[in-house]
Amino acid sequence: MSVTGPGMTGCRDAAAVLAAAVRRLTEAGVDSPRADAEQLAAYVLGVPRGRLVLAAWSPADVERFGELVARRAARVPLQYLVGTVGFRHLGLAVGPGAFVPRPETESVVEAALGLIAAVSHPRVVDLCTGSGAIALAVAQEHPGAEVLAVEADPRAAGWARRNIGATGLPVRLLVGRIEDIPADMDGFVDLVVSNPPYVADGEALPPEVARYEPVSALYAGVDGLDALRVVQRVARRLLRPGGSAVVEHGDRQGPAAADLFAGWEDVVIHQDLAGRDRYVTARR
Ligand SMILES: C[S@@+](CC[C@H](N)C(=O)[O-])C[C@H]1O[C@@H](n2cnc3c(N)ncnc32)[C@H](O)[C@@H]1O
Repeated sequence: MSVTGPGMTGCRDAAAVLAAAVRRLTEAGVDSPRADAEQLAAYVLGVPRGRLVLAAWSPADVERFGELVARRAARVPLQYLVGTVGFRHLGLAVGPGAFVPRPETESVVEAALGLIAAVSHPRVVDLCTGSGAIALAVAQEHPGAEVLAVEADPRAAGWARRNIGATGLPVRLLVGRIEDIPADMDGFVDLVVSNPPYVADGEALPPEVARYEPVSALYAGVDGLDALRVVQRVARRLLRPGGSAVVEHGDRQGPAAADLFAGWEDVVIHQDLAGRDRYVTARR
């Protein structure tokens, strides 16, 4: 992207720079080219997206924006480029190594909060925490909750640690496989919540996900249910009698995910805001 002259880019130039970026992202197959171009511009200029039209661009801004647009056109996730993602009431740091928290997981948090609403100091465990999104949202929205976040991938755990530190919320991080959680919590947990990997091996994914998000956050065996099987086993061990599990799954996995909870009480498949099967709740 080029800019004429050494001074600030005027409104008309800025509009042309944005239009060129939208064209480039459209050609690259990005789903929401205008929204992404505007978010990158807002990030570069340090202004809210709604104030972009008033912002002045320096040549350095135009150059930096051009670099980011090129990376977005190579399908680097927008959230990795701007370094943060909004989740519930939090702004979380994310980057390579971290799964980007998705809006549909916000409904999993909503369900988790509902299940512990009557308990003043619930013990909550977030299995497969990634950047810490679910654990932190629960800790923020249910003060008094004692939250443990468990993550096997050291790079993802690094992002969780950073988010715990930045928010100052009372979440403990255990770096290790959920299968290896020490037995000293068995039978004492009020709620287990999890968004584990649930993509079937070989299933095609958008370039942003397939090329850049960690494989260990995505794939889970031939039917995509291997991690959910482990989550169910670990949850059964951790929960006190009457404690609850909330587990996210793929939109075509509702009945199969519910079947994993055979022998539990009140097993229910729930839909996300788009009306797709998204998570199962069950009581031990
Ligand atoms: C789909 S991502 C979800 C991250 C986070 N819960 C969220 O919703 O944004 C799944 C996470 O589970 C982690 N994971 C996969 N298998 C695991 C295991 N056996 N024990 C602990 N963490 C695991 C991955 O490293 C990844 O960070």
